Order: sequence, then C-alpha cells, then structure tokens
Amino acid sequence: TSGGSAAAKRRAGESTADAVEDGQVVGLGTGSTAAHAIRAIGDAVADGLDVRGVPTSFQSRQLAIEAEIPLVELDEVDGVDLAIDGADQVAGGQLIKGGGAAHAREKIVDAAADRLLVVVDPGKLADRLDRSVPVEVLPAARPVVEDRLATLGGEPTLRSAERKDGPVVTDNGNVVLDCEFGAIDAPADLAAELSSVPGVVEHGLFVNLADEIHVGREDGVDVRTP
Ligand code: A5P
Repeated sequence: TSGGSAAAKRRAGESTADAVEDGQVVGLGTGSTAAHAIRAIGDAVADGLDVRGVPTSFQSRQLAIEAEIPLVELDEVDGVDLAIDGADQVAGGQLIKGGGAAHAREKIVDAAADRLLVVVDPGKLADRLDRSVPVEVLPAARPVVEDRLATLGGEPTLRSAERKDGPVVTDNGNVVLDCEFGAIDAPADLAAELSSVPGVVEHGLFVNLADEIHVGREDGVDVRTP
C-alpha cells in the first residue's frame, strides 16, 4: 500500500529503528512505512548493530535481504523483543491492518513481541475505527465465511488483484475478504467474533497489541502511548 507523505512515513520508520538495541530479535512489519524502518535498521547493521529480524511477509523478507539484516524464523528464537509495523488505521491503541494482505503473519509476530511499535503518517489516525476489515480466509471456506460475516453485520468483498484475473492470494495461499462494518464501536468484541468463525485464518483488527504509535510528520515524530 502507499499514499500519505513519504517524508512523514520515513520519519516514523527511522524513529522506531532508533529504538532497536544490540542483541535484539526484531519483528519486521510490512508496507511502505515499515519499509523505512527496515532500511534504517539495515543502515545500523552496516554500522555494527547486532540484530536478527523476523520477517512478516514476502515483501519484508525481500527488503531485509536487500538491507542485509540477518533473518530468523520464530522457531529459531526464544522470543521477539520488539516488532515494528505499519497500520491502515489507528484509533487510540487499536489498529486495522491488512491493506497489504500480510496481517496474519504480522499478527503472529506482533503478538509474540514484547513491544509493538506502530509506524504511521497522520492520515491514518482516526477517533474510531471505520475502515473495512481485511479477513484472510481459506479459499474453500469463502462462501460460508461470507454468510457469517453478513450475519455479524458486515459487507464482505473478495479482494481482487489488479494485474491478474482473479483474487489476491496471500503469502499463505488464502483469499482476503474486505469487510465493511461501518464505525466499529467495540473492536475487541468484533475481533473475538471474527476469530471464532471457522475458515477465518486471521483478521486485521489488532486489539490492545500496540505499545507505542510513532506518528511521522514532515518535520518530526509524535510518539503516543495508548
Ligand atoms: C500489510 O498487510 C499491512 O498491514 C500494512 O502494515 C499496512 O497496510 C500499512 O501499509 P503502509 O505503511 O504502506 O500504509
């Protein structure tokens, strides 16, 4: 995903990269804002910082390889010290993610981390979450999941790819339903309901996971603690 001010995204990414300490295992988020953090961590690695990165997607893995950040998977480490990740919308500490269809692995890594730092530009901030919620679904379960989402008051749309005939297929081989719920008054309740639908692999509501929100601006960064 893209859009928003490139300078603001860069500031947010660089600000979180500064928080990375020697010896840490760091979750590497996905998207254009997290990409700035990955590049900045790569610069620090070139200057001698000793870290290992856990990628959250094909994209973040490729960027980390380019940035020459040593990579590990979750089964090779005792835990994740810190994760840095973008978001599509932020209200207080609650997030909607999955604009890049990477939210399943992102949530696994972000939830495993001792601390999650979220990087956004000001355009992502809202008083209440009201964007559509990406729901990753096993392909064979799509019709029944669509019915359940409608029962929950949602309007699901199968995400389609721009330069392909057919749906977006995630890094995990699944499809994505972008589900419109209007303004989401109780994100924790909706998150629990979505998680309980058979066939749903993961959804993009990240409830109470963020420890800091780094909001990049043209000329600096606001760090908010939810
Ligand atoms: C990937 O699926 C998403 O969760 C991204 O983290 C999110 O879309 C933010 O991307 P941008 O930083 O490019 O807006």
